[in-house]
Amino acid sequence: MSTATAVAHPNIALVKYWGKRDVPRNLPAVPSLSLTLGGFETRTTVTWGAPTDTVELDGAPAPEKAAAKVRAFLDLLDPQRPPCRVVSANSFPTGAGLASSASAFAALALAGAAAAGQDTDPVRLSILARQGSGSASRSLWGGFVVWQAGERADGLDSHGVPLLPADAWDVRMVVGVVSTAAKAVGSTEGMERSRATSPLYATWLAQAASDLDEGRRAVLARDLDGLGRVMEASTYKMHATMMTSQPPLLYWQPGSVACLQAVWRLRAEEGVSAWTTMDAGPQVKVLCAAADAERVAAVLAPHAARVHVLGPGGPARLEPA
Ligand code: PMV
Repeated sequence: MSTATAVAHPNIALVKYWGKRDVPRNLPAVPSLSLTLGGFETRTTVTWGAPTDTVELDGAPAPEKAAAKVRAFLDLLDPQRPPCRVVSANSFPTGAGLASSASAFAALALAGAAAAGQDTDPVRLSILARQGSGSASRSLWGGFVVWQAGERADGLDSHGVPLLPADAWDVRMVVGVVSTAAKAVGSTEGMERSRATSPLYATWLAQAASDLDEGRRAVLARDLDGLGRVMEASTYKMHATMMTSQPPLLYWQPGSVACLQAVWRLRAEEGVSAWTTMDAGPQVKVLCAAADAERVAAVLAPHAARVHVLGPGGPARLEPA
């Protein structure tokens, strides 16, 4: 029996991932670029060798669907594995567009590999984590991370690549939590629906590589306006693709729209470089300079149940035993 504990942070995509080229291997149709967020974290302990498989999430037995995903993920690490005990806790709401699956599978990959006595090289773990949740492939590293789509059928070239470490650019992501209700349609089902039915899907795919190049250049140049512009472009192309799926996917709530408009007003009227993004949920996230974060938080506050100000976070790490 051996035990390891890992901590990983969620990440928010700046250039978005939406669409798969291979569903069983969880390979993306597009590359993406993210920022790992400090402050929020998943802490996961894996005991390799237990009486039976057990999965505990936030202090209670995990719902069967989540437990089954965890067991299947551990089987990927070692098909001959012994029964394992997994105890995981999030410091933020689960399943509400705050990327809990990203930090969850990054932490599980690292803790599981360490408990099993396996290689913990981050590229290997990113390839593994990707198979639990695509966005998890980006949470092995801190700061700004590119997930290259890759071309290989086996997916061995589809993993995260660090672009700029967390301490290299002091930006903030201000998160307006509009609702913490679990999402209506999960990302895998939503992506397949968009691929099969949205008339905009082909355009979405065609523009992804140039959006990534623009985002990467802006990050390396610490160009907040440039990064914000391409982040908003990628965000609303993704949401237009979602909305034009059949049946439509609309993750926005009235509070989301109020948050978006408040940020755009702030930019137009006060010249604050603040840029919006949203994922498969109603939360609004705003990228801005550290010095503007409190101002951004103040304009979101009337429309959000909670507001979090988060800075860049570091890589997934093992806790000392
Ligand atoms: O990999 P998943 O299932 O967490 O899907 C992530 C999809 C988006 O959050 C909408 C975009 C992204 O790149 O994170």
